Amino acid sequence: MNKNIVWHEATVTRERREKMNRHRAKLLWFTGLSGSGKSTLAHALEEELHQRECRTYVFDGDNVRHGLCRDLGFSTEDRSENIRRIGEMAKLFVDAGVIALTAFISPIREDRERARGLFPHGDFIEVYVSCPLEVCETRDVKGLYKKARSGEIPNFTGISAPYDVPDKPEIVIETQDRTVQECVHELIEALEQRGVIPTKVV
Ligand code: ADX
Repeated sequence: MNKNIVWHEATVTRERREKMNRHRAKLLWFTGLSGSGKSTLAHALEEELHQRECRTYVFDGDNVRHGLCRDLGFSTEDRSENIRRIGEMAKLFVDAGVIALTAFISPIREDRERARGLFPHGDFIEVYVSCPLEVCETRDVKGLYKKARSGEIPNFTGISAPYDVPDKPEIVIETQDRTVQECVHELIEALEQRGVIPTKVV
């Protein structure tokens, strides 16, 4: 980095923003196979959080690859750079007082751990969206597994490229045979328990 670049401290701090928002800022890092339900869950959880007047933002793999990461493919190096950029971007959103939700396959443990390392302890909440490959492949929402099996798509996670199952994710959500609402309910409870959002008064 250029030595003439100097960090500027803001007077409006994250703490002040969190106080105004009446919830904590965090990063919920969804990881899992294509078709496991990461984006669906991140968006459904965001909807619930929004209704509870939380400030949120979802970063979704396919969407981010249309813009910020449009120059990247699916080689090991490109995926690593993809995750680095998302980590840095999410860090800014957390500083902005937002509950950021990222939905990327993020298959390599080391890349996820590097992203975790950008955050103070407890701010990076890894959510492993767990679903057997056979189920993801049967769902094949985007028809990509079929193309991967035929060899039309190379380096496809789970078929011809690896996925490192998280060692110690903060949250594991099983999506096989479960409704989106059940999963969202579980996530909301986990966030309440961690004091990220206030418990709902009914
Ligand atoms: S990551 O591996 O770099 O984290 P990311 O989440 O951004 O991946 O993008 C994954 C999405 O890109 C998949 O949901 C799928 O729609 C699409 N995709 C296209 N090619 C591949 C591939 N080779 N492996 C995995 N996903 C792919």
